[in-house]
Amino acid sequence: MSIVTSEPVPRPGILDIAAYVPGKEHAPGVARVFKLSSNETPLGPSPKAIEAFRHGAEHLELYPDGQALALREAIASVHGLNVANIMCGNGSDELLGLLCHVYLGQGDEAIITEHGFLVYKIQIMGAGAAPVEVKEKDCAVDVDAILAAVTEKTKMVFIANPGNPTGTYVPVADIRRLHAGLPKHVILVLDAAYAEYVRRNDYEAGLELVSSNRNVVMTRTFSKVYGLAALRIGWMYGPAGILDALNRVRGPFNMNAPAIAAGAAAIRDQAFVEKAVEHNTLWLDKLTHAFQAIGLKVTPSVTNFILIHFPDVDGKRAPEADAFLTSRGYILRAVKGYGFPNALRMTVGSEEANRGVIEALGEFMGRSA
Ligand SMILES: Cc1ncc(COP(=O)(O)O)c(C=O)c1O
Repeated sequence: MSIVTSEPVPRPGILDIAAYVPGKEHAPGVARVFKLSSNETPLGPSPKAIEAFRHGAEHLELYPDGQALALREAIASVHGLNVANIMCGNGSDELLGLLCHVYLGQGDEAIITEHGFLVYKIQIMGAGAAPVEVKEKDCAVDVDAILAAVTEKTKMVFIANPGNPTGTYVPVADIRRLHAGLPKHVILVLDAAYAEYVRRNDYEAGLELVSSNRNVVMTRTFSKVYGLAALRIGWMYGPAGILDALNRVRGPFNMNAPAIAAGAAAIRDQAFVEKAVEHNTLWLDKLTHAFQAIGLKVTPSVTNFILIHFPDVDGKRAPEADAFLTSRGYILRAVKGYGFPNALRMTVGSEEANRGVIEALGEFMGRSA
């Protein structure tokens, strides 16, 4: 018998979810603002993507291709994949949500890690399942801790590789070991949102593991190195069984036409991506050294952002640093919600922004950079 209430009531657990809080955008009273809080690229998108977007806007009265074929074909050709194993989403966020809604329900568990991307927890709880949080080791995913947390209720394991907000990565040998230790019905989700930035021989985003298994998916995004965050484009590479299930419930026109066109043009312009990665690699190194030189601890990053840890000293902690930087127009990301109350995450910005933050943090710490 249903209970009559005076207003609609969401499913149990929904109101326990803490909604996602995006990075700050404004610095009140400051004329020139550098937003370094959302891991967006300082170089913008490829000019070819902008041109394709404009062209794609010429017929807004038409529904988009519900299969997003032009985009899937472009992704397949650049990465050497089978088109049928690629699914596009309105940002990879949508795909992460779909996975949870299709494979999780009441009584199920999904494993996330201590400093993992907050969207996983939100979507797991949104599907009525229980997130099981596993400790990380020195800001890095601990494969053994994950394997130890698997129970008969476990249905899914989420790993951002590289991790956000830590910027660390799990070598491919450990990812393979993790997969080998999981039961065959548990889905391993490899979220490789920052894969393009990684310059390490022992890193793999997960293509091979997906190709040879039925329980691994890899998600990617156009929001970071491709500079198309505004258009919301993500993609998943996965086995036929999982894609078939997800395709049954995804919105029939989940990708808009200008996004399909711009995404396809962006991924075909790999020369542009190389330039963006080159800028990032150069500044990741310079920023890391500069921050260390003024006495700050930095978690070694392979991404386009850096986790900066502040001293546990009155007036020098992360909240004060955040306020100081914001007053100068540099907006970084407070990461208390990720388990780092005394750290800030900085996205690698333009040369001007990077130099400005180095100088401002030097002043904040009372040390010249
Ligand atoms: C680890 C990770 N996964 C996924 C996303 C979401 O990407 P998208 O913009 O494609 O939804 C982000 C964005 O910040 C991220 O950091």
